[in-house]
Amino acid sequence: MNKKTTYPKNIFFIGKGGAGKSTSSALTALHLSLNKHKTLLVSMDPAHNQSDIFERRFSEKPVPVNDHLSVIEIDTEKWIDKYLTDIRHQVRRSYSYLTAFNLEKYFDVLKYSPGIEEYALISAFQNILKNAGDTAYLVFDMPPTALTLKFLTLPDLSLIWLNNLLDLRQKILEKKEIISRIKFGHKELETDKIKNNLQQQIATYEQLRALFKDTHQTSLNLVLNTGKLSFNESLLIVKKLEKFQIPVSHIFLNKYHKGFDISHIKKAFKTSNIQILPHYGTELTGLKNLTVYLEKLDRFIEF
Ligand SMILES: Nc1ncnc2c1ncn2[C@@H]1O[C@H](COP(=O)(O)OP(=O)(O)OP(=O)(O)O)[C@@H](O)[C@H]1O
Ligand SMILES: [Mg+2]
Repeated sequence: MNKKTTYPKNIFFIGKGGAGKSTSSALTALHLSLNKHKTLLVSMDPAHNQSDIFERRFSEKPVPVNDHLSVIEIDTEKWIDKYLTDIRHQVRRSYSYLTAFNLEKYFDVLKYSPGIEEYALISAFQNILKNAGDTAYLVFDMPPTALTLKFLTLPDLSLIWLNNLLDLRQKILEKKEIISRIKFGHKELETDKIKNNLQQQIATYEQLRALFKDTHQTSLNLVLNTGKLSFNESLLIVKKLEKFQIPVSHIFLNKYHKGFDISHIKKAFKTSNIQILPHYGTELTGLKNLTVYLEKLDRFIEF
């Protein structure tokens, strides 16, 4: 274990479709558990793959695979519904005067509005963290690139909105105060529910933003193959994340064939610390095959 690591450590697997995110996350989770670290493998991809890889059924309830490893699959639809229910309660509480308008219709379309999926994933992620207990490693098998990037940059983008909304609210409150002074001749003492709510949300997103950028708490692993398409998409992912100062910790070069020259990958991603995962020949599934595959590896990256 790395001395500076903060536990639980979040290990994310990202990369182009089919590159091997699910396989790499399964191998990593199994490797950590075989080294006796308590590990939870979490499938965040709505098109879950872990059931096929481990050849057994998983759900939102952790299913043990060995003494140190359990697996869960996030039910995205459930988290979308939960997120919308929470918003419904919040809006009703904060804007009671709005019940005159047809709010229900608004909530019905909100379900299909852009951005909902990543908010739901963030809620699910927060819930995993809250219930992590003494788990040392949380390994996340992530959805396709577009949704994963939205998930990782959500705290930064939400904070831009929230800070602007807080400024606006502050201005409204100042105006309200002036009016109440003129009307009642004294300063109105009030705790503003909306301002409180915004401040709470800002604190939460600031924590998440810091978590994603801190390599002692979070390890972002980019999975790529030897082909041009996954190489180019991986470069774009790194570039996009760099804009948000979110660092990629490791490169996993999957489906590697002996003799393939990796010097351009080392150069492009400015690292020589690349986890090589050779091509297995056939599909890499089943606990036994995964275990034998791990035993044959020369080395495994330390988290
Ligand atoms: N090292 C490997 N050797 C042989 N086959 C592999 C290897 N890694 C992955 N595969 C196979 O390649 C396919 C894609 O792998 P995987 O499902 O892990 O990728 P993914 O990035 O999670 O894909 P998706 O974007 O669809 O979720 C699967 O059929 C898997 O069994
Ligand atoms: Mg997958």
